[in-house]
Amino acid sequence: MCGIVGYIGHKKACPILIEGLKRLEYRGYDSAGIALLEHSRIEVTRAVGRISNLADKLPEKGSTANLGIAHTRWATHGTPCERNAHPHLDQAGRIALVHNGIIENYRTLKTFLERQGITFASDTDTEVLAQLVGHCYRGNLEQAVRDALHDVQGTYGIAVISADEPDRLVAARKGSPLIIGVGDGEYIVASDAAAIVEHTTQVVYLADGEMAVLTRDGLRTTTLDAVPVTKDVQAIEFSLEEIELGGHEHFMAKEIFEQPLSLANTLRGRLDVREGQIVLGGLAEHARTLARAKRIIFTAQGTAWHAGLVGEYLFEDVAKLPAETEYASEFRYRNPLIDDGTVIIAISQSGETADTLAAVREAKLKGALALGVVNVVGSTIARETDAGIYLHCGPEIGVASTKAFSSQVAVLAMMAIQLGRRRFLSQEAAERLIDALARIPDQVGEVLQQSDRIRSVVETLVERENWLFLGRGYNYPIAMEGALKLKEISYIHAEGMPAAEMKHGPIALINQGMPVVFIAPRGQQYDKVLGNIEEVRSRGGRVIAVATRGDNEITHLAEHVFHIPDVPEPLQPLLTVIPLQLMAYHAAVLRNCNVDKPRNLAKSVTVE
Ligand code: F6R
Repeated sequence: MCGIVGYIGHKKACPILIEGLKRLEYRGYDSAGIALLEHSRIEVTRAVGRISNLADKLPEKGSTANLGIAHTRWATHGTPCERNAHPHLDQAGRIALVHNGIIENYRTLKTFLERQGITFASDTDTEVLAQLVGHCYRGNLEQAVRDALHDVQGTYGIAVISADEPDRLVAARKGSPLIIGVGDGEYIVASDAAAIVEHTTQVVYLADGEMAVLTRDGLRTTTLDAVPVTKDVQAIEFSLEEIELGGHEHFMAKEIFEQPLSLANTLRGRLDVREGQIVLGGLAEHARTLARAKRIIFTAQGTAWHAGLVGEYLFEDVAKLPAETEYASEFRYRNPLIDDGTVIIAISQSGETADTLAAVREAKLKGALALGVVNVVGSTIARETDAGIYLHCGPEIGVASTKAFSSQVAVLAMMAIQLGRRRFLSQEAAERLIDALARIPDQVGEVLQQSDRIRSVVETLVERENWLFLGRGYNYPIAMEGALKLKEISYIHAEGMPAAEMKHGPIALINQGMPVVFIAPRGQQYDKVLGNIEEVRSRGGRVIAVATRGDNEITHLAEHVFHIPDVPEPLQPLLTVIPLQLMAYHAAVLRNCNVDKPRNLAKSVTVE
């Protein structure tokens, strides 16, 4: 989604801002812009498309400005075009502002400002905010921003500069993340740590309802009502190497292939194989409440929602605790019934997904214990939940979520085993699962070795525009995830569903040559899946199966089989998803799609 970078210091701001925007490219955008304070004037440059288009439009001899703000925009109000790109200026052209989020009452504010004689240059809600700050300006930028924000309804992360105050940058947030990188006599404000880490690892996380005034001499934080707030400077966890390609052609490939490592990092220190125990420090305080819970609700969106579905199976099967999985976007609005015995578990890679955050707030309002399974440290969901477990799988840059998904499932498996032990799971059964979980990272490595063969198979299918993904039990969510991965990056239409559901309608779609991917490792429902395979074959569908190594039966039925090692059923999703991620990746590359920046998609959806 949109990205913000701002700089104040003694260095040239322009290259720092452009580099910062490039680091945020992965979030998805359609246009970009930069405002630099040059000789007491604000110079704004905007461009549609790539950051390189913006860089090409900047003066050749470069800028000497050491104060500026920049933005990548993902259109919400107004089409993606140059005049709608940020930064936006006030009427006098003396104040520039960049904004992430949505100003909900922008129409009312716009009418008010128009009545004051202000004319608008764009169709955006953001320009309304820039004009409002200009309207409130009486020689003090901090006060003008504060006054303007008091009239605003909606969400925002903003960075603002004024030509009349060359020594300050004002930032504020409500519902949209902002992080401030702290350097030596310099500050970088950004919506994402990726734009900061090259310059400093010391950061301040701005909380909702807080403002920061940055000067070359220091940083001052307050609430929107001007009450001083003392913030800790914290260290960012990840390094520059982690957000670079490291020899891979795409971030998605890098992230798929680093899963043996990312999973090992997720499990590290949490599996006590010798004692047959799971240690989840983040939950220690709430372990009793969790064990006594009557109902678990997983809430999330997209791929994280699929992880929640796996969690539902894990919690009911392993921990014997009733569980359900809800789209956060539905949960938040349907006035859900929540009682003392309900625990909500929000799953989110970014920790900033607007609907998931709103679901957490709704559940907390109604008295539920809210836990987070989040990757980005210090993100809003991580901070607003009562407790939680970080994925520790490292930054995920590719828009299509891969390594975060496997780490989410690994965390949910650990939670289910730990909870199971406090309920009905025997020590022996727990030990078997913990042993098996410890071997998963290496086994993921084995499955990844089939990548070249998967590519050759996909090559023969990639022209087909409709695919089905089918699975049962633990592998039904994996069928959904396989279909989502394929459609979002290769633009092939795909559907995933429980294998039995096929007969209730979708079977009508199956014609000669339609690819149907079965996730069919050995397990309780294996024979039933074989029956479904027969049904597809007899209608001319081309069957691709993900099956247990050594399963010779399925090789007679499926045209192509990709293998996974034999593992206990609850852990199968951690392996069966890997061939599907690779299929999607190779299909997108073979179809010349922009793998890491699929059309219309953003990495983190911070508006509803
Ligand atoms: C798909 C994908 C999305 C996200 C969803 C939730 O590959 O990445 O479906 O899973 O937008 O995002 P987070 O996990 O950041 O809350």
